[in-house]
Amino acid sequence: MCGVVGFVGKRACADILVKALKNLEYRGYDSAGIAVFENEKIKTVKAKGKIREGLEEKLKKEPPLNAVCGIGHTRWATHGEPSDVNSHPIGNERISIVHNGIIENYREIKSFLIGKGYEFESETDTETVAKLLDHYYKGDPIKAIERVIGVIEGAYALGIIFKDHKNTIYAVRKDSPLIVGKGNGESFIASDMTAILEYTREYYCLERGEIAMLDGSGIHFTDLHGEPVEKELLTAEWDVESAQKGGYEHFMLKEIHEQPDAIRNTISPRVKDGMPDFSECGLTDEKLRSYKHIFIVGCGSAMHAGMAGKYLIEAVARTPVIVDIASEFRYRDPLVAEGDLAVIVSQSGETADTLEALKLSKAKGADTLAIVNVVGSSIAREADMVIYTNAGPEISVCSTKAYAVQTAFMYLFAFQIAYVRGKIDGSRCRELVKGLLEVPEKISECLEDMSQYQFAASKIFNADSLLYIGRGLDNALSMEGSLKLKEISYIHSEAYAAGELKHGTISLIEEGTPVIAVMTQNALKEKMISNVRTVKSRGAKVIIICRSSEKIDEDCADYKVGLPDADDIFLPLVSSAAMQLIAYYTAVQRGCDVDKPRNLAKSVTVE
Ligand code: AGP
Ligand code: GLU
Repeated sequence: MCGVVGFVGKRACADILVKALKNLEYRGYDSAGIAVFENEKIKTVKAKGKIREGLEEKLKKEPPLNAVCGIGHTRWATHGEPSDVNSHPIGNERISIVHNGIIENYREIKSFLIGKGYEFESETDTETVAKLLDHYYKGDPIKAIERVIGVIEGAYALGIIFKDHKNTIYAVRKDSPLIVGKGNGESFIASDMTAILEYTREYYCLERGEIAMLDGSGIHFTDLHGEPVEKELLTAEWDVESAQKGGYEHFMLKEIHEQPDAIRNTISPRVKDGMPDFSECGLTDEKLRSYKHIFIVGCGSAMHAGMAGKYLIEAVARTPVIVDIASEFRYRDPLVAEGDLAVIVSQSGETADTLEALKLSKAKGADTLAIVNVVGSSIAREADMVIYTNAGPEISVCSTKAYAVQTAFMYLFAFQIAYVRGKIDGSRCRELVKGLLEVPEKISECLEDMSQYQFAASKIFNADSLLYIGRGLDNALSMEGSLKLKEISYIHSEAYAAGELKHGTISLIEEGTPVIAVMTQNALKEKMISNVRTVKSRGAKVIIICRSSEKIDEDCADYKVGLPDADDIFLPLVSSAAMQLIAYYTAVQRGCDVDKPRNLAKSVTVE
């Protein structure tokens, strides 16, 4: 998790580092710090807490820093509680490092170093790397880094400075992300490009086994033995504006509003002459026809998009789909094999469990298709085929537009499988694609007036617990609605198949228990109404999400959140925006930190 940054240039860098760290705060925010070359020394300032409350306050008390080179870190603790001493940068007067990831064999390294006389201050795994570097460092940074890389196991993106190599940063990575940005007479390292978009859009992707050296003369890449490596300079399409809040109170709200465009950007490039077309990524019709099994794997919201995919592919393409949580999939010797397709879904493209699930599927001989938002991310690079979801940067920890585009992709994917497998003909396929292309417009209609979501939120914001109920696709999408609510408002909630409630969970309903009933499926309406009446008669306060045109009896539901009209198959995707907004306003009314919910981080690069 966590965010790593570094800067080398001619201007004072403390503010630049802090600003870049703020852009990365979504990755971790329990402490932050910087280390810079100041007056021939390494000067470190670090503090527990969010950047504004901790690091910035501490920096204000320091004399102004003139340094033109330094590294910075915002932490999501894995080893050792959030505290000043466990904050990064970590090191001593000779060497300082920032680290994203986990050093798995840190205990062995620690014992080895204690045997050599080293003393440890922090409880972090990271300190073992700093001390090991110190141990091996005899004046040549590359040699020391090479030795250390040969010893440490686990995941890491490291930014390193050595006191006697002034204004120079070294960087190396394995399994944790790190890019190297090339500015005008200045260079950067960062965990992701959004951190430095204000300064440059040009960057290199650092690969495993490479070392980047950034100094006044520019950026140099070598292998671990110091041999030069040539690398391709890439350009980020994202601009600063799209990585900032653009007038919205929170990134989450902004990103919900970006959904219509994001869905268009995902779907339109994969539609040719009104039909789905995935040939761009190598997913040919022959391949799609041939797969024996289709697996969809991801974590959190990405896995929920997979659940929607399962319902859709099974309904339209009559092809069974296995959906799995990446952390379960990877440890249960899954039945994935040659001749199968593993669809790996991830916004960040860096989620550790998802990446391992991908590697495992590949190793077992399956074809792998990554549905990823971040270009050049580890999952994108590792997969056989990639569909980029083109949603633009998602900054809020709580995923909204990334989930929407992943789910939108699942629709198109289901239509294509159905067509190539002869389950629907060309004209039905075109009709379905047309319907999907109209979804953004329907979502825009939902976004015109916030009052019904604010009102619904006011009815649940002081609840301790609530239930989402739905049937079919509504059930699949409610899982995500429920995750949104608990993730950002800290109200316990569960999504339950409406018909399953009576087998146990209905005992939770008592006077006043809020229930959000999602009812977009005309074909299942009567069944849903019965389920709603059942909970209502046991005291539930029911908020029903359905078409605005739907007539709901007062004795059936207490409040209604109305949706524009659309076909049964598409309306759940529209309702998802409504569920996100209910969660958003509930969290706002409870005074929660919407974009940075407690205990979470955006990119989960640890197991
Ligand atoms: C969603 O709101 C989450 N914060 C989380 O469940 C997320 O979807 C999950 O961690 C997977 O992330 P990824 O898409 O970047 O792999
Ligand atoms: N494992 C390191 C620590 O706990 C780094 C965690 C991170 O990636 O933020 O300090």
